[in-house]
Amino acid sequence: MSVVELESGAAFFDDVAGIRACLTEPLPRIPPWFGYDERGSELFEQITELPTYYLTRVEWALLRRHGADIAARLGCPRVAELGSGSAKKTRLLLAECAARRPTHYLPVDVSREMLEHSADRLGDLPGLSVTGLWGRYEAGLDRLHDDGGAPLAVLFLGANVGNTTPGERSALLARIAAALRPGDAFAVSADLLKPAAVFETCYNDPPGYSAFADFRLNHLAHLARRFGGQVELDDFRAAAHYDPDHQVVDGRLWARRDRSVELPVLGLSLDVRRGEGINVGFSAKFDRDGFRRDVEAHGLRAEAEWVDDEAGYGIFLFRR
Ligand SMILES: C[S@@+](CC[C@H](N)C(=O)[O-])C[C@H]1O[C@@H](n2cnc3c(N)ncnc32)[C@H](O)[C@@H]1O
Repeated sequence: MSVVELESGAAFFDDVAGIRACLTEPLPRIPPWFGYDERGSELFEQITELPTYYLTRVEWALLRRHGADIAARLGCPRVAELGSGSAKKTRLLLAECAARRPTHYLPVDVSREMLEHSADRLGDLPGLSVTGLWGRYEAGLDRLHDDGGAPLAVLFLGANVGNTTPGERSALLARIAAALRPGDAFAVSADLLKPAAVFETCYNDPPGYSAFADFRLNHLAHLARRFGGQVELDDFRAAAHYDPDHQVVDGRLWARRDRSVELPVLGLSLDVRRGEGINVGFSAKFDRDGFRRDVEAHGLRAEAEWVDDEAGYGIFLFRR
């Protein structure tokens, strides 16, 4: 497999303007893609194995049960995936796709390590070729759009679509729609509304585990390391809360005492008072009909959906 470098030399990790803008919002936040350096990617894999983190298991089961049907509907020779990560679940779908016709898989991810590992693991699937697109979603989508090639399906799995603010989500969906040509497909998974307690159990570590806390703290460690700062991670406590008014799980680092993290390369000091937080990831939750409408507003037509009603989690297929 080959890896195409979309933003040369991991330029996204040095996107000073983008990171500064997020850190100076009323609720400072470290953008989600910034959390996926090599260690962050490993920690995310540990999260997917937590006994309380249902998203990966439910999606896996949906793909196992309906993968053949989904692949038949995708039915095209180019399958791109935004934020592919380990692509362990996607493998099920790709095996079905490649059994039908030769398939070119184009995973887009900021984690080069994950792109390389996933391609190695997919190497044994007959009929599948892989080109990793290393960079952010937008750069990957531009590349697919410019390609002018064969019919395309874009996958956005793992409920990643929820790791955005409403404004970012709308801009990203517009960009996805613009990358598709008439007849192309978009398959996206979403976690549906549930009682707050379900989310708070899912997005915090169960006793004896620390994957979520380590993953969230790693955002700050990575930020300080990259931008010349020093940070004492013990000064922060990681926790996620569900905000039912905005239908979003808010993953935060809370300062245990007043703290200033100097980031000389960014030319700013991140001042956090005791009891205040830094956001390190949103996970939006969706009303089923509302989600469909939000995506359709971007000129895509809902075609099919596979939903685990008990778990409140689904994969939705749209057609351009
Ligand atoms: C929550 S993980 C999900 C991984 C995989 N899809 C799954 O379901 O297990 C998010 C993945 O998206 C990647 N990612 C996050 N934000 C990104 C962005 N803006 N552009 C490209 N990749 C991104 C991360 O590196 C990570 O591999």
